[in-house]
Amino acid sequence: MASIAILGGTGALGSALAMRLARAGWTVVVGSRDAAKARDAAAGLAALYPDIAISGAGLAEAAARAEICVLAVPYAAHAETLAQVREAVAGKIFVDTTVPLRPPKVGTVQLPAAGAAAVEAAQALGETVRVVSALQTIGAEKLAAGGAIDADVLVAADDAEAAETVRALLADIGLRSWHVGPLANSAAAEAMTSLIIQINRRYKINQAGIRITGKPKDAPVTAMGLSVRPVPGLPHIAPGDDLAVLIGEAIIAGGVELAEGDVVVVAQKIVSKAEGRTVRLAAVTPGAEAIADAERTGRDAAMVELIRAESSEVMRVTPGVVIARHRLGHVAANAGIDQSNVAHDEGETALLWPVDPDHSAAVLREALQRRFGVRLAVVISDSLGRAWRMGTTGTAIGVSGLKPLRDRRGESDLFGRVLQATVTGVADEIAAAASLVIGEAAEGVPVAVVSGATYEPAENQGIGEILRPLDQDLFR
Ligand SMILES: NC(=O)c1ccc[n+]([C@@H]2O[C@H](COP(=O)([O-])OP(=O)(O)OC[C@H]3O[C@@H](n4cnc5c(N)ncnc54)[C@H](OP(=O)(O)O)[C@@H]3O)[C@@H](O)[C@H]2O)c1
Repeated sequence: MASIAILGGTGALGSALAMRLARAGWTVVVGSRDAAKARDAAAGLAALYPDIAISGAGLAEAAARAEICVLAVPYAAHAETLAQVREAVAGKIFVDTTVPLRPPKVGTVQLPAAGAAAVEAAQALGETVRVVSALQTIGAEKLAAGGAIDADVLVAADDAEAAETVRALLADIGLRSWHVGPLANSAAAEAMTSLIIQINRRYKINQAGIRITGKPKDAPVTAMGLSVRPVPGLPHIAPGDDLAVLIGEAIIAGGVELAEGDVVVVAQKIVSKAEGRTVRLAAVTPGAEAIADAERTGRDAAMVELIRAESSEVMRVTPGVVIARHRLGHVAANAGIDQSNVAHDEGETALLWPVDPDHSAAVLREALQRRFGVRLAVVISDSLGRAWRMGTTGTAIGVSGLKPLRDRRGESDLFGRVLQATVTGVADEIAAAASLVIGEAAEGVPVAVVSGATYEPAENQGIGEILRPLDQDLFR
């Protein structure tokens, strides 16, 4: 791979670029006003990553040794650094990352008389140098962290070939970029930094970035995988809250883009809270049967009374647990009634399932579809135990927009054998996938978006079909 000089490679952006490029296989020369400082910086990175090719030199020497040069110095040092490397960069690609900001008013756009710092660089370096502007909108800290970068790079250049070379280099270090036109357009990317600084400050974001949406027409068709994205930032839900509005706002604030067919999985708990399904145990008068069961289980009698009231059948009563068939047909410990993540300021409380989780899902789905203009499905999920396995999994207790079961009987397997009994519980699988990011404890992430799941869209289809009919219950 070619060699690349990072002029200002001892600084925040420069050292992160040097590290990423060297790790991607580039031969990197760190350039500094002080050659010894450059060598130290290079040695520091080489100690961390022994396999990389990296060295340090003074600015002009670093530029002379490399085929491509990147400038990463403060604007205050821009003109002076350009003058120092002018001869050494003749005929080369020169990447300017400079934002022409002079502190302290960095939150206000400042552009030089030439229009952009990159245009000044082109003027200072002469016609043989192919100046490419890039990277102004990428935070150095994020680059230095070494992980995936959730932001795009705008590349401005008069020379399209040079722009493509730089885009390939950026792709090597995990950055998606767009050639946004002539070098003069660098003004917009340079100006963008002040907007990003404002956004960082106002919304307390650690290094916001920009993302270009849309898909190029000739983009390769990639196999769609499954993604599960948490929707963070929902407030504590109180009775009467409009959950669809709050989820919609959190989706927008969290930058979660919704696409056709996505499934929004919502933890039952917040649906129940919004629907006012919290009950104060002190207000419950236990009957004789509840008191007897409470003695056998060691549970609070009021709690057992609630379980009984929510159930069509109490199936097992053992110390600590009541297994009941919920009036909606689900068999669950404590009829799904929960005391975790419920505030207890006004005495002990319990949270019941929504009265009709399918209806709750349908209301949410309709509002979210209207807001985002795409077809969605909604699953209301709870964490339930499994009779013969330890550990809870996310389980669907209400659905809208999808068929809970995927009947694959009649399809052929790989060897042409017709599947006889394969019916998958898609709604539960989606709920379980979402529960990997939905927080059970103090995480407070009660909504997730599942994309790429295979399911059969369906209108007016509730969770009912997933419940095994009583006459097929082999264990009764
Ligand atoms: N930081 C970011 O997140 C970021 C993101 C995108 C673009 N940029 C742009 O990248 C450039 C570098 O930003 P940075 O944050 O990496 O800067 P920095 O860490 O403050 O400085 C980078 C290097 O510039 C050299 N330098 C030369 N003359 C200087 C002078 N008069 N004052 C201070 N340092 C001088 C220093 O290296 P030596 O002492 O070794 O010579 C220093 O290590 C800026 O133009 C900035 O707008 C930064």
